[in-house]
Amino acid sequence: MSLHSHPRFAARTEALEPFLAMEVMERAFALEREGVEVDHLEIGEPDFPPPKCAVEACERALREGQTHYSDSRGLVELREAIARDAATRFSASVDPARVLVTSGTSPAMLLVFSLLLDPGDEVIVPTPHYPCYPNFIRYCGGVPVFVETSPHDAWAIEVRAVRAAMTPKTRAIMLGAPANPTGAIQSRATVDALGALGVPIISDEIYDGLVYDGAEIASAHGLGEGAFVLDGFSKRYAMTGFRLGWVVAPEWAMRRLQIMQQNLFISASRFVQHAGIAALEGGAPDIARMREVYAARRERLASGLEALGFEVHGRPKGAFYLFVGARRFGANSRALAGELLERAHVGVCPGVDFGAAGEGMLRFCYAVSEATIDRALERLATALPALEAKASA
Ligand SMILES: Cc1ncc(COP(=O)(O)O)c(C=O)c1O
Repeated sequence: MSLHSHPRFAARTEALEPFLAMEVMERAFALEREGVEVDHLEIGEPDFPPPKCAVEACERALREGQTHYSDSRGLVELREAIARDAATRFSASVDPARVLVTSGTSPAMLLVFSLLLDPGDEVIVPTPHYPCYPNFIRYCGGVPVFVETSPHDAWAIEVRAVRAAMTPKTRAIMLGAPANPTGAIQSRATVDALGALGVPIISDEIYDGLVYDGAEIASAHGLGEGAFVLDGFSKRYAMTGFRLGWVVAPEWAMRRLQIMQQNLFISASRFVQHAGIAALEGGAPDIARMREVYAARRERLASGLEALGFEVHGRPKGAFYLFVGARRFGANSRALAGELLERAHVGVCPGVDFGAAGEGMLRFCYAVSEATIDRALERLATALPALEAKASA
């Protein structure tokens, strides 16, 4: 073997696509190291601090020596608090025995796909979609089967199209509520109809709570044992770095999930779980405040992008993204995002990161200050005319 060659990689890692939002951010960091100031609208990370009660509970737990492993399924007090939270938000009756606490929503996703998928098994994924869904599915040997949605009907999932895409190999249907990147919320009728198709629903509800104009999600908790509900503290509690999430699973799945958790992750961090309990018990005012600020930013960014000539499809009901048409400035979203970063120093996420259905679009994140939004809009205004001229040449 020469110095630079290496053994072959496992096929499951070769199947992974890069996460383009991260690639843009990493290039932006390189520019910043050269002294350039970049406006980061590419990555989905709240700029708010976590709730004070969560930080204090975490500090207290550390000082009190809560530094050991916990039950692999999570502290009983946290599992009970998660069950109470489901009752408060959705009037759902969740047995704490169906809650498994994980080090973020991402590991919960890995556990659920690992549980359900053998090689060649299929998962229906409405698209545009969160980039990691197909990557997790492929990593577990599965095959994502995409069902397109369109901005012209607020990204509604057509149950007929899902049914047509199902085969004997279909093992689950993936949902996001609200969805990333579109911010879309599906109707109760749609979620119930999808839940009646005979395979489990995997519903990623990490953006719930970040909803506007009085909107509410149709939670898959309403499907009871027919759903795996993924959730976490990263987005609505602005606790990305705590790495804490959970899955509420059907009772029949719990023992297998527990065994995987014991082996793969042992348990979520114990002192961080105390932060989670405090956030669930005392973080509601923080969520309400952040939601109000996000709603104002959503309008500021949306109207600014409209004025610049982007195709903004109404106002998304949830999450903190605008997913907008950008073809007049460049049909290749990855190249366009690269140009905007290099020329305007504005980080945005290429639409193609969210699947082929997202090509020609860009995702802007408004979890940044109004000053950052204003500066980004000004910088875009300076750079776009040349890009538009190039695109129409
Ligand atoms: C839809 C969706 N699910 C899950 C995650 C990951 O969440 P966590 O930080 O809990 O792993 C993200 C992060 O961007 C997301 O957008």
